[in-house]
Amino acid sequence: MKLYIETLGCAMNMRDSEHMIGELKKQGYRATDDVKEADLILINTCSVREKPERKLFSEIGQFARLKKPGAKIGICGCTASHMGEEILKKAPSVNFVLGARNISKISEIIHKDKAVEVSIDYDDSTYVFDTARNTGVKALLNISIGCDKKCAYCIVPHTRGKEISIPLDLIVSEARKLASKGVKELMLLGQNVNNYGVRFSTPHQRINFAGLLREISQIDGIERIRFTSPHPLHMDDEFLEEFASNPKVCKSIHMPLQSGSTKILKSMRRGYSKEWFLNRASKLKSLVPNVGIGTDIIVGFPGESEEDFADTMDVLEEVGFDTLYSFVYSPRPHTESYDWGENGKIPQEVASERLARLQNRHKEILKEKAKQEIGSYHRVLIENTKTGLESFSEGRSDNGKLVKIPGEILTIGEILDVQISENDGGSLIGRWVR
Ligand code: 5AD
Ligand code: SF4
Repeated sequence: MKLYIETLGCAMNMRDSEHMIGELKKQGYRATDDVKEADLILINTCSVREKPERKLFSEIGQFARLKKPGAKIGICGCTASHMGEEILKKAPSVNFVLGARNISKISEIIHKDKAVEVSIDYDDSTYVFDTARNTGVKALLNISIGCDKKCAYCIVPHTRGKEISIPLDLIVSEARKLASKGVKELMLLGQNVNNYGVRFSTPHQRINFAGLLREISQIDGIERIRFTSPHPLHMDDEFLEEFASNPKVCKSIHMPLQSGSTKILKSMRRGYSKEWFLNRASKLKSLVPNVGIGTDIIVGFPGESEEDFADTMDVLEEVGFDTLYSFVYSPRPHTESYDWGENGKIPQEVASERLARLQNRHKEILKEKAKQEIGSYHRVLIENTKTGLESFSEGRSDNGKLVKIPGEILTIGEILDVQISENDGGSLIGRWVR
């Protein structure tokens, strides 16, 4: 039997899809890229902004037309969580709906028709590893599920439920298993990774995220540890110092700013100020001068004045982010700011203009930073090679940059020293320094 799966959204969703693929393999399914030959079609959805959600229903219609007779369609993930039953009503071709917190039930739900499993009280945390998966040199590893924060704009607590940390022994044994299969780099996943340890579903020893990093870095074979996403509020000194001093922890970090204005941060309920964010970024840079910092920014949040936006531009300037994901605010149901209605609403054209200004300035900053890269050295984990006329190897540097090494076929999984000779805007280009 054949499975076609489409995955939208974040790394958490990617891991959930891997998990479902693993479970379904045990049931005899094999993956296909051709929706027409699939017996089971899954869409693993994201609901963080409105646009992809709107596209979902036209996509279901398209799949319903293309699918072979008898093939089933299942809608999984975050939009499944918050729309539930409504999806079946709007799209009668859908056979089942499986929420982001219930993905371990995939093997049961495929045998039921018109079933809906979307409980966010369901504790999926100890099941997330119970599956076979294909692994290369990198692997995703959940350390917590759900989110306890109440950011005014965010639907995730509604779709993924309360935060539960996964027990340390489970994480460590899964990491060991992955290492024994040749995995060199782990990406630890959670909605607020550096809040690890606040709540376990069963009695558990006290351990925080810095402690977890120390434990995982003891594992032989695991040479690199990354994580996403940490919350700026929980970036205390212990965390920053562990990040800086642990040689296995890669020196790139996501610091989701959302807004640079303390006033807007307050109405977003982010729990930190502009000054705290700048203070943490500057401490980070003083501990790790070469650190790569990424961020998420929302423009046009209700009440955002030109001065508030200037504060965001200010932070962009001062931190000089290496990666920027930026969005126009999109009101989402089940969130605090959705209920504000028209109150403080920023006109679409004002928000779009601010987004363009932000992105243009960021591009300029990247150009300025790119020049500084020439001649620098990076440790690169080789992830891919391409043979042929324009052969090359490529991988990521410790601080998260994509690095291409032209003319060489290197061993996948090796970590090599590379000197940068060019920067084409998309990736750094360099040569292996033997
Ligand atoms: N509107 C726009 N962007 C949003 N994000 C989350 N919720 C919304 C929303 N309602 C952005 C945040 C978050 C990223 C995953 O998506 O920046 O960090
Ligand atoms: Fe990931 Fe959030 Fe989108 Fe869910 S809503 S897939 S948690 S980004």
